[in-house]
Amino acid sequence: MFAKQTVKDVDVRGKRVLVRVDFNVPLAEGTVTDDTRVRAALPTLRYLVDHGARVIVMSHLGRPKGEPDPQFSLRPVRRVLQRLLGRNVVFVDDIVGPEAHDAVARMVDGEIIMLENVRFNAGEKTNDPEFAKALASLADIYVNDAFGAAHRAHASTAGVAQYLPAVAGMLLAREVETLTAMLMNPERPFVAILGGSKVSDKIGVIDRMLECVDTLLIGGGMCFTFLVAKGVDVGRSLVEDEWIEHAGKMMDKALEKGVEILLPVDFVVADQIVEDAETSIVGREEIPSDMMGLDIGPTTSELFKGAVSTARTVFWNGPMGVFEMKPFEAGTREVAMAVARNNRAVSVIGGGDSVAALKKFDLEERVTFVSTGGGASMKLLEGTALPGVEALLDKNA
Ligand code: 3PG
Repeated sequence: MFAKQTVKDVDVRGKRVLVRVDFNVPLAEGTVTDDTRVRAALPTLRYLVDHGARVIVMSHLGRPKGEPDPQFSLRPVRRVLQRLLGRNVVFVDDIVGPEAHDAVARMVDGEIIMLENVRFNAGEKTNDPEFAKALASLADIYVNDAFGAAHRAHASTAGVAQYLPAVAGMLLAREVETLTAMLMNPERPFVAILGGSKVSDKIGVIDRMLECVDTLLIGGGMCFTFLVAKGVDVGRSLVEDEWIEHAGKMMDKALEKGVEILLPVDFVVADQIVEDAETSIVGREEIPSDMMGLDIGPTTSELFKGAVSTARTVFWNGPMGVFEMKPFEAGTREVAMAVARNNRAVSVIGGGDSVAALKKFDLEERVTFVSTGGGASMKLLEGTALPGVEALLDKNA
């Protein structure tokens, strides 16, 4: 159960409601190329509009340097929001200045305005209390629906909550609930698939997963650090030397806990990471000294697919290889298809590159839950408190 108050616990009618969303979306030449995060915020925004709130939307976009920078303007996102909501959204070029105050003062119930990128103010990332107070002065209630930014202790995600009644939006609540329920109360067998290039990015998640999964499948660049810990010669494949010992300890821990860890048994290897790479498939003990493993091989795909097919809960984070390139995409595609095909399992996709992979293979609609947070979902899963959630009012406060 989600322990924080949500928009449904407060009376929003006629109130000025400041909503932090995560509209950190990809842009190409001023056009939004993926509107998933905008769509994900719609339930909360529609709820507020339908309940007569005066909605002030704020977000970050990209990583500007604490001052206005046109390439990170939220204007293109406003157009997408207008289209998806089917209503006008007034755009305000400043964040807490007179223009913002005037626009808010003119609002009527059920209206939406959108502020410019909060990271155009240097006080955002430093969680400056003055900036947080200035944001709070625009509104009566604060709603955080930016799950993707909830691991940041910034003025608009955490600081502002000190000065207003602060509650969760529906997306943030659903993300926290889904990911927490998966860890606490999974239907078994629970199979986690972890990939991606670096083991160092996933240490906390692997440690936590070993406490609750039945089987852990490890692919992607990170598997080579585990293989080296087992004494395998991996040629020029990516290895993080400083994590070899820890990888060995994690395998010992798995043994103690009765968790099965499956590592790849074969690889697609090449000597360069390029679109027209010449590849071959080799067993894991036969990686040539001048080659790199860049995808799991077909025997591994079968092994992993078998484990996924019998699961009742599946968590997947991180690709199995360099899936952006044709010669190295098969392993990630096969695993994604196995997750999509198992419709008896609850399947949770942990944000970031695995979501990009699902989209690439057009499988997004076929899983139970796709997290909108990359870094935030990893933090939550490793058991780190999220400042954007901690700052909200407790359910029974
Ligand atoms: C994300 O895309 O992961 C979030 O929007 C957070 O962005 P940040 O890493 O720039 O804080």
